[in-house]
Amino acid sequence: MYDFKIAAADSATLYRDLASALEGLIAGEPDPIANMANAAALIWESLPDLNWAGFYRNVDSELVLGPFQGRPACIRIKFGSGVCGTAAATLQLQRVEDVNAFPGHIACDSASASELVVPIVRNGQLIAVLDLDSPHAGRFTEEDEAGCVRLAEILAKAL
Ligand code: SME
Repeated sequence: MYDFKIAAADSATLYRDLASALEGLIAGEPDPIANMANAAALIWESLPDLNWAGFYRNVDSELVLGPFQGRPACIRIKFGSGVCGTAAATLQLQRVEDVNAFPGHIACDSASASELVVPIVRNGQLIAVLDLDSPHAGRFTEEDEAGCVRLAEILAKAL
């Protein structure tokens, strides 16, 4: 049984503990779906104020829904479309304070107000994107950005 209780007082400690738990979860496991599934569950349990946490995979240059926690979501997203598709097309992290102000935002869950999407890249190739949604506008900070970039670096070796 895995029993991670990550509830740090500050964001840097929270993400350090989260990164360490993620490294432990994926250690020695080569299956990418299993690793994404556990990563989504770990993030969902550890980060407050989320209404969706999970992955879209790069399948033949289209984003296809991967393991996640939250409400059922749109299955396929074209590169360049919405927040996830923009991250995929540009390989640039997208931190969106107000999704309603983002041109082309795809509203899978009307509760979503802000979003953080981090490309997971290995050898210059997009493997997947990590997508976090929150019901609160401006939920994601630069510390969340840095912490999730670290999680994406860990995952890049395990997907
Ligand atoms: N809002 C995303 C779509 C994915 S859902 O949030 C799970 C977007 O605009 O790409």
